[in-house]
Amino acid sequence: MSWPFRTIIEPFKIKVVEPIRFTTREERQVILREARYNMFNIRAQDVLIDLLTDSGTAAMSSEQWAVMMRGDNAYAGSTSFYRFEAVVKELTGYQHIIPTHQGRAAEKILFSLVGGQGKCIPSNTHFDTTRANVEFTGAEAVDLVIPEGKQSQAAHPFKGNMDLHKLERLLAAAKPGQVPLCMVTVTNNSGGGQPVSMHNLRETRKLCQQYGVPLFLDACRFAENAFFIKRREPGYQEKATIDIAKEMFRLSDGCTMSAKKDGLVNIGGFLGMNDSGLAQQARNLLILTEGFPTYGGLAGRDLEAIAQGLHEVLDEDYLTYRLRSVEYLAERLRQIGYPLIEPPGGHAVYIDARMLLPHIPATQFPGQSLCSAFFEYGGIRTVEVGNAMFGRTENGKEIPADMDLVRLAIPRRAYTQSHIDYVVEVAEEIYKNRHALRGFRVVKQAPILRHFTIELEPCD
Ligand code: F0G
Repeated sequence: MSWPFRTIIEPFKIKVVEPIRFTTREERQVILREARYNMFNIRAQDVLIDLLTDSGTAAMSSEQWAVMMRGDNAYAGSTSFYRFEAVVKELTGYQHIIPTHQGRAAEKILFSLVGGQGKCIPSNTHFDTTRANVEFTGAEAVDLVIPEGKQSQAAHPFKGNMDLHKLERLLAAAKPGQVPLCMVTVTNNSGGGQPVSMHNLRETRKLCQQYGVPLFLDACRFAENAFFIKRREPGYQEKATIDIAKEMFRLSDGCTMSAKKDGLVNIGGFLGMNDSGLAQQARNLLILTEGFPTYGGLAGRDLEAIAQGLHEVLDEDYLTYRLRSVEYLAERLRQIGYPLIEPPGGHAVYIDARMLLPHIPATQFPGQSLCSAFFEYGGIRTVEVGNAMFGRTENGKEIPADMDLVRLAIPRRAYTQSHIDYVVEVAEEIYKNRHALRGFRVVKQAPILRHFTIELEPCD
């Protein structure tokens, strides 16, 4: 539907509410200190607006809650499984659909089967759990996003695209069987939630076919990607988003999916594929860790909620509101003067904290400093995607990450425009006082994935 007004309203009304708690700035200073300035250590009850992640944080619809009541929890042959399977098959076209409790469980199974020493898995950009699951098997995870995808200010409508030249070089140089599959992450979360064009997917597919390599999607945010294609790619304006999504899936041979994003649910995922032999092996592994293939670590109600969520997420009124609300937050932050990854992606706005706070050296965690400020000033929880996450120490020396970003991820259907306006007002206040923000030093850290448990203290 075309909307004649400037204000894009939430295409839903609220039936169930969950109170959020106000705290004073003094209380938040204590909370921050006790959390050692690590956002993962803060209790949700102390957060006013939680922009830590868009994963598993969606508000479900009344229809989703309604269908959950009919969830069938039979161990084998659950009716809910067959409903779920039919919906996912219709959407993706894959022969085999294997439910899992979330995205990384699908990744773990897939890469346990196709990974291993000497193998190489290219992607536009592997998400952290995908990379970790590839590397855990001894295989190499290679990121081949186009150069614009790594430059925060570069203008490009599809900054998630695969660099086809680099992919061709990699495939041509590989030994037979060395590349068991190629991944494309839609949208590219680690690169700022940037979409991949259908043209790029098609060309990636051609290359994969030429070299006999299956193509898999990391499909977490497939609906947002499909809607970006509708908006930005010539020839797709008149197509229904659902048909664009179907076309995307049909260019691939399988996918891993975290339904906690575009499945509009709080838990769930799946592994889909056409290869019957591989699917059989995957089901065998599934039984070992997730459960029988007709529930895969989920209750019947979860399967029902995913089936309904996959239908709702392709509603174009929903997607218009979804992309507009992220874009709106980006516009307002840009007006204030915040340097952002441009253009904003589908699920989050990313602030370039290193650029915003040039007086804080990269070794002193400018991203963490901005995250702390968002919490101290307004009770807003964000996440650092920078030095704490990707930097490391070698012989006691801090080797900083390429960028220090702060991600404001927007949970689906959970917050209204006034919540976003409040975030903007807090951001304005921080911007005025940005010169007073201080850096941090590490008190304690783990050797791997340190951002989850890192303890920090402010530099004097
Ligand atoms: N792939 C992508 C692109 C993701 O963004 C995520 C999760 C996963 C795979 C793993 O899925 O969490 O269901 O196991 N991203 C979350 C985030 C955690 O905050 O971006 P999962």
